[in-house]
Amino acid sequence: MNQDELKRVAAEAAIDYVDGGIIGVGTGSTINHFIDLLAKVKHKIDGAVSSSEASTERMRTHGIPIIDLNAAGELDLYVDGADESTKNLHLIKGGGGALTREKIVAGASRKFVCIADVSKLVSVLGEFPLPIEVIPMARSHVARQLVKLGGTPVWRENFTTDNGNIILDAHNMRILEPRKMEQEINNIAGVVTTGIFAIRPADVLILGTEEGIKTL
Ligand code: A5P
Repeated sequence: MNQDELKRVAAEAAIDYVDGGIIGVGTGSTINHFIDLLAKVKHKIDGAVSSSEASTERMRTHGIPIIDLNAAGELDLYVDGADESTKNLHLIKGGGGALTREKIVAGASRKFVCIADVSKLVSVLGEFPLPIEVIPMARSHVARQLVKLGGTPVWRENFTTDNGNIILDAHNMRILEPRKMEQEINNIAGVVTTGIFAIRPADVLILGTEEGIKTL
């Protein structure tokens, strides 16, 4: 199976967690599979809270009702992909730039089911460049602080987030203490969100592997 097929296998398994109500929906190529599968069971749910304009658009095409998070209350379930995960379900997210809204919806949900192909499982976070959403005027200041934390920040040029901000991708981070690093980066003035999801990790990780599903 290729990587895309493994993503679809993981997405299929996540459909089993859909049990009515309003579903939080993430962003990315793995979640696109999930959205396409969710469309087939949309009669079971009241609607979805979306984490990005891209996912909203895809769900609208399928006729899945989009609900504002402020009107939805606490969600039972959030399903999203990841760029990296440890076996402790600490994640790096934001490869698609949707990290802030993803973190908000994850934080507002009782259960976070993360779906990914098995290549995303790592022993230490940081080989994937860490995305950080930054207020545009703070770009250089935040970049200097990231260098002090051991990273090599690269401005994701020609990219604006759904919130009108920029992304710095911090290369060469070896994140041994994800919760501490998440807090430290969040404390830099001008940072909107870091792509480390450790303070609120995933609750379940479903990996698509050649041998089928592996659930952590
Ligand atoms: C979007 O900003 C990200 O957090 C995605 O969840 C992550 O990049 C996973 O994307 P893929 O499913 O495309 O690998």
